[in-house]
Amino acid sequence: MSGLAALVTDALRSVRDPELRNDLVTLEIVKGVEERGGAVTVVLETTTPACPLKGVFEAGVKEAAGKVPGVKSVAVRFLAGRAASRTGTLRVPNAVRLGSIRNVIAVASGKGGVGKSTVAANLALALRDEGAKVALMDADIYGPSQPLMFGVKGRSPEVTADNRIRPLEAHGIGLLSIGLLVEEGRSVVWRGPMIHKALEQFFTDCLWGDPDYLVVDLPPGTGDAQLSLSQLVPMTGAVMVTTPQEVSLIDVRKGVDMFRRTRVPILGVVENMSTFVCPCCRTETAIFDRGGGERAAVEWGVPFLGGVPIDPSVRAAGDAGVPVVASHPESPAAEAFRRIARAVACRVSVEVLTGTAPEPEPAAPPRGGFEV
Ligand SMILES: Nc1ncnc2c1ncn2[C@@H]1O[C@H](COP(=O)(O)OP(=O)(O)OP(=O)(O)O)[C@@H](O)[C@H]1O
Ligand SMILES: [Mg+2]
Repeated sequence: MSGLAALVTDALRSVRDPELRNDLVTLEIVKGVEERGGAVTVVLETTTPACPLKGVFEAGVKEAAGKVPGVKSVAVRFLAGRAASRTGTLRVPNAVRLGSIRNVIAVASGKGGVGKSTVAANLALALRDEGAKVALMDADIYGPSQPLMFGVKGRSPEVTADNRIRPLEAHGIGLLSIGLLVEEGRSVVWRGPMIHKALEQFFTDCLWGDPDYLVVDLPPGTGDAQLSLSQLVPMTGAVMVTTPQEVSLIDVRKGVDMFRRTRVPILGVVENMSTFVCPCCRTETAIFDRGGGERAAVEWGVPFLGGVPIDPSVRAAGDAGVPVVASHPESPAAEAFRRIARAVACRVSVEVLTGTAPEPEPAAPPRGGFEV
C-alpha cells in the first residue's frame, strides 16, 4: 500500500455507519484502497447486497478521502457482498443444521388475511432484485399460498436419488411449499408433531443451496408452525405484518409477544393495506384506518419497516402467479416493497453484527399428542 493509500485509509476512520455506530474501517466495510498518481479507488463491501446506506457510504468516503493532501480524485467501487450470516450465532437447543442458509427470516402475524404471503413473496423478489440469493419456504401447512402466487401450482419439485427435495425455481427464487407436495384440494389434517416433523424435513431434507435469505411464510396465529420454527432453527428474525386497524393490531401484538418469549428478534413491522388511492380521482381513503402499524411499532419498541398501499394490482398479480414487484415494478406498491426489503436487509445486518438478540429459553417439546 502506498503512503497516500495508508493516509486515505486512516482518513476513512472518520466515516461511520449510522446503523452500526462504528467506522467503515473497523467494521471491515473498507476492503481496499488503491492509489495511482493521486487517483484513489476505495473498495467497499457491505454486509448485505441490499444495503440502503450505499449512497451514504459513497458520499462520506469521497468527502473524507478528498480532503487528504495529494488526492486528486476518489472513485468508490462496491463488491457484490453476501449477507452476513446469523445462523449458528444464536443458540437454539437441538437446532437442525442449516448448512449454507445464511439467514432465516420469518414473515408472520397474529392475524389471518393481512397479507403475510403477499409480503413474503414480494419481499423475496425485492431482495433478489437487490442482488441477494433468496429462497422462500411456504410454511403454511393448512393454507399454502405461494404455489399460486409464484405460478407453479401443479408442478412437483424434483426428488433426488438420495430422497432429497430440490425446491422449484420460480422468478429466480428457490421455492418449496407443502402445497407442492400434497394433492390440490385435499385438506391436510395434521397435529403439532406432524407439523414439526414436516418443517424439520423442509430444512434437513431439502437442497436449498446457499441463499443469503430464506424467507419463511408462516400461517396465521401463534400456533404450532411458529413455535416449531423457533425451536428448529436459529432465526435471524421475524417481520410482523399488520393492517392499520386495532382489531388486527391486537392479534399481531400476541404474535410479537410469542416471538419475544421464544427469543426470536423482531426485525420490524410492515403495515399492509395502508391506504387506497382511487385510480379515477386520486382521492386517498384510509379503508382500514391510518398509521396503526407505525404507532404499534413505537409501542412495541421495534422498527417500522414501511407501509404498502391497497392496490388491486397487488391482488391480481398474486392471483396471476407473478407478484407485483416482478409484474408491475413501477407501481407504488412495488416501490413500497423494495423500500421494505432494503429496511429488512439493513435490520438483518444490524442484528447479525450487533447480536442484540437475547439467549433463548430452554426449548419446550412440540405441542400436541403423537396420534393423528
Ligand atoms: N396491499 C394489498 N393490496 C391489495 N390486495 C392485497 C394487498 N395485500 C394483500 N392483498 C390480497 O389480500 C388477500 C390476502 O392476502 P395474503 O394471502 O397475502 O394474506 P395472508 O396474511 O397470507 O393470509 P393467511 O392468513 O390466509 O395466510 C390476497 O388476495 C392478496 O392478494
Ligand atoms: Mg398466507
